[in-house]
Amino acid sequence: MNISLPLLQTKLKEWKGCALSEKSNPVFGEGNPNATVMFIGEAPGEQEDKLGRPFVGAAGKFLDELLGTIGLQRESVYISNVVKFRPPENRDPTDEEKAQCMPWLKLEIALIKPHVIVPLGRHALGHFLAKTTISEAHGKPFKINDSVTIFPIYHPAAALHNGNLRQALYDDFAALGKFLQSV
Ligand code: URA
Repeated sequence: MNISLPLLQTKLKEWKGCALSEKSNPVFGEGNPNATVMFIGEAPGEQEDKLGRPFVGAAGKFLDELLGTIGLQRESVYISNVVKFRPPENRDPTDEEKAQCMPWLKLEIALIKPHVIVPLGRHALGHFLAKTTISEAHGKPFKINDSVTIFPIYHPAAALHNGNLRQALYDDFAALGKFLQSV
């Protein structure tokens, strides 16, 4: 493929193919370009929009902590989002916004070639496994082809609103850590 991650990021900065791009800043993925594991969230929030980086607000701090529980640092994995611009007031992204931004995510995945993709929450999950729900699928591996396994986990922000999910996230990360050791 004749395109690199930095070039893709530059192109995203010029792109106006999603209405959200008029009122917010592009937030491209970041991390290790050779990562085995790729985490995919929903869309940037306020801090991400300000800094132009994924998962740097409260949910990002919790994600960093969760990564640490299985001996990973954010620099060793790749972290991105389905939607590349902040929806106003952090509302859910629409199906149209997700579809408009999807080519960027597909290109990031094609360049990184992760063996394990971790959709964080239902918006990312829906792209990979449309027929299940996050409450059914979280914490379990789904092999979708010879080289890629999908390992869905609740979105870290969900646990910030609903304390009951906090333990589920710790448990799912522990299961992810074990799974990564086995592959
Ligand atoms: N939530 C997301 O889904 N992505 C971010 O980058 C930050 C919060």
